[in-house]
Amino acid sequence: MDTLRTQTPPLGITEVAWSDEDLVRRFAAVKEAVRAADEPWGHPILASRTAAALRHGWDGEPAVAHLVTVDGVDVAAAEYETTSWDNQHLAWLGADVHPAHRRRGYGEAVLDFLVDRARAEGRTSVGGNSWDAAAPRAFATRHGFEAKAVEVNRRQHLARVDQARLERLHADALAHAPDYELVRRVGATPAAELGALAEITAAINDAPTDDLDIEDEVFPTERVAAYENAWLGRGDRLMRVCARHRGTGELAGQTVVVVEAERPQVAHQHDTSVVRAHRGHRLGLLLKTEMLRWLAEDQPQVATVDTWNAESNDHMIGVNEVLGYEVVGRALAWQRPL
Ligand SMILES: CC(C)(COP(=O)(O)OP(=O)(O)OC[C@H]1O[C@@H](n2cnc3c(N)ncnc32)[C@H](O)[C@@H]1OP(=O)(O)O)[C@@H](O)C(=O)NCCC(=O)NCCS
Repeated sequence: MDTLRTQTPPLGITEVAWSDEDLVRRFAAVKEAVRAADEPWGHPILASRTAAALRHGWDGEPAVAHLVTVDGVDVAAAEYETTSWDNQHLAWLGADVHPAHRRRGYGEAVLDFLVDRARAEGRTSVGGNSWDAAAPRAFATRHGFEAKAVEVNRRQHLARVDQARLERLHADALAHAPDYELVRRVGATPAAELGALAEITAAINDAPTDDLDIEDEVFPTERVAAYENAWLGRGDRLMRVCARHRGTGELAGQTVVVVEAERPQVAHQHDTSVVRAHRGHRLGLLLKTEMLRWLAEDQPQVATVDTWNAESNDHMIGVNEVLGYEVVGRALAWQRPL
């Protein structure tokens, strides 16, 4: 265990391996206490999903997690995330202090620990996310971070979706996209199609990133396969709808929803993107209405779908609002040079 001295008392900072059940349970308990305090609308944080996240990450490169203790009491969770695919200048940090242990300097000590690591690795920029709330605003500003992007968490309650209206929206979108066919796929993409999928995945770089100092993400086929493996590795159901241009056979766009294994009533929207050359045919709305129709048939137990968008992403938000998504939380992305 590394020990880091602040004024008093010393913090114990222990790396959490995904396979260490006891440490993962304690780490997840801190995260759940923070969630309950700061994100009451959120789905409870489960130890099992935390272990899977620490094993698989978003696309095969999980954050390094630490449990932070003082005199044997679990007070905070610290996370350090980088990717090998792009953005080598950057480390993304997470500091979560248990609500019963705030304003004692622990957040600051955790941040110092993470920033030291970023510096030691030669990173020149650090960032992190928080809810748009007083404590993280004051904390981040005091430590030289600036709010560089606003991201909004929306939720759709499927029981509130008017199926007749959904069918009308779908038919209307279809009428604008006669040259495209829709393809539904559960689970992993066959190897022969991964290259085409990787090409359209890069279209997500057209989503606004506001003032963040980040480069476009790169998506070689290995990364797209690693993303699928990471979610299938959790046991989740990965559902993808693609739009394919009938004339050329090119993939034009996709939308992905993941349904949780342990809580199959909970689903999450991942990427939705339409490549530039195929925009203007209502494919965004078409893909998402098709996904809703498919969910109703195939996964009728799904109660909610959560999504995240940059607040400035007018097009995607327009589609989401037509489909009845409601705002549940507003978050900030902070960044500072090192
Ligand atoms: C933000 C957070 C990490 C702060 O943790 P903490 O241990 O309470 O912070 P510290 O005691 O180290 O505070 C350091 C300084 O930050 C500022 N600060 C922290 N919380 C504050 C609050 N609620 N209101 C005003 N200033 C605050 C103060 O300047 C504080 O110094 P002071 O107590 O001497 O006035 C904690 O509230 C938290 O975990 N929030 C949820 C997760 C999150 O948003 N993480 C941060 C991402 S940027």
